Amino acid sequence: FHVVHVTAEMAPVAKVGGLADVVTGLAKACLERGHQVEVMLPFYECLPDEEIEGLQHERDFDAPKGAVWDGQMRVGALRTQAFRGRIEGIPVILLRPDWRECNIFRGSRIYGGSYNELEAYLYFSRACLEYLLLSNSQPHILHVHEWQTSALPMLYWDKYHNDGLKRPRIVLTLHNLDNSGECRQDEFGYTGLPGEMFATVDKALDERTIGHNPERLCLLKGAIVYSNAVTTVSPTYAEEALTGGAAGWLQSTLAKPGLRSKFQGVLNGIDTAAWDAAVDAALPAPFTADLWQGKAICKRYLQMGLGMDVDAKKPMVVCVTRLVPQKGIHLIRHGIFRTLEQGGQFVLLGSGHADGDFRSLAEGQLRDHPDVRLLTLYNEPLSHLIYAAGDFVLVPSMFEPCGLTQLIAMRYGTIPIVRSTGGLADTVKDVDASSADPSSQWNANGYTFGGIDEGSLNSALDRALQHYRERPEWWAEMSKRVMRINSSWDLTWTESGLVKIKQSYPFAVREI
Ligand code: ADP
Ligand code: GLC
Repeated sequence: FHVVHVTAEMAPVAKVGGLADVVTGLAKACLERGHQVEVMLPFYECLPDEEIEGLQHERDFDAPKGAVWDGQMRVGALRTQAFRGRIEGIPVILLRPDWRECNIFRGSRIYGGSYNELEAYLYFSRACLEYLLLSNSQPHILHVHEWQTSALPMLYWDKYHNDGLKRPRIVLTLHNLDNSGECRQDEFGYTGLPGEMFATVDKALDERTIGHNPERLCLLKGAIVYSNAVTTVSPTYAEEALTGGAAGWLQSTLAKPGLRSKFQGVLNGIDTAAWDAAVDAALPAPFTADLWQGKAICKRYLQMGLGMDVDAKKPMVVCVTRLVPQKGIHLIRHGIFRTLEQGGQFVLLGSGHADGDFRSLAEGQLRDHPDVRLLTLYNEPLSHLIYAAGDFVLVPSMFEPCGLTQLIAMRYGTIPIVRSTGGLADTVKDVDASSADPSSQWNANGYTFGGIDEGSLNSALDRALQHYRERPEWWAEMSKRVMRINSSWDLTWTESGLVKIKQSYPFAVREI
């Protein structure tokens, strides 16, 4: 297969969360299995040029783009620059507008710059299509992710119908249904195409209108309708989207028979080479399930480095997360205090909207406490050390499409304590669960709770800390066992069981 990913994030150079990890991990896994893979990414000004191997300017071209003049959308063109290079060995195509004409993708971070994001990603989606057409590139599969690149399936559909082009199979992956990418019809014009063409019910297209309100379009709905296959990142989240309200009003769209049959949950993998305690350069000592001593050295090194009480016996709970409501901020906060009350240690590495709350705690009430460090920053190497040093990772999310932090933590022998939702429910099964399934690799590998209140969290956290103290040998065995879990992209679960990555794409062969 020739697969082209179109994405707003890619690890490690353009990473905000798990989307970036998934794009790089899946692309690498497919490359290793002999597929031809390319990733198309905005050439954000903040990308570190030196980390892009063989970076070269390839061509300039005009991408059609609407702009508002005198209150009206008029279509012109934006001079666009295409660069090629490699990130982590993966061929990438980087696009950006000529910055003498506009400031799209300029600034010091990926999201939240001074330009209009909707305009930027709609322009980017159109520029990707133009680039592929100009280069006469005919991928078998175009893999789009999230709302940011969701206009592409619609734009392709238009070209395909009007210009009779050979169209690739399009796969859409929904990583998070919290943001469905809404825009006004006239704003869709940033793609260079009028939004009205997708807004009305066309008899031939039947349900293909993508507005749920006459004035507005929903980009995710458009991509769901115009893609050949739609995946989300775990089987349980797929179920929650279909029946549990996770998809909001898009639930009825996904549940329509014609669309339901192309929708499935495929559990994310992780890049097991990037997350490997045996060779991880960020660790003071390597370790494996058989050579276990290195894990204790990592814990000691972190305790010393952060000026904490250096004590191998104190259970250390860690949390590496974006600090946004999805992640259960109130439970993270409660988890810190509960862990301290129970004689444990807590290390948080987090960044996001709720930074301020944790910074105040760190500088106020918990200042100089020898058993807690709240680090409100984003730091990749430090995250590796924290995963390795921890005894437990806390993931008390309100919802979690897949969640990679519990998978990464387990790879470092760190036991997850999670709220059982989405992918967390698929990958963490409570050690005390009555419905144990010994044939599953996820069996009895952590601590889970269901509610969103503090008492529910206590029910899992207290047991975890108690087992750590009272059953050290049993606990160490569990830790080594979870380290051996295969969470790579090799083997991944779908509703129908364990499938190989090679089989992950044929479901795209389906007419829309
Ligand atoms: P989400 O994509 O919703 O943020 P995931 O669990 O899928 O959640 O992925 C989060 C990724 O981001 C993981 O690789 C995690 O290690 C990383 N991460 C989150 N916060 C930080 C941080 N403050 N510093 C370093 N890495 C972080
Ligand atoms: C999203 C989800 C997270 C998932 C990640 C990668 O950011 O919040 O649960 O693991 O995408 O698919």
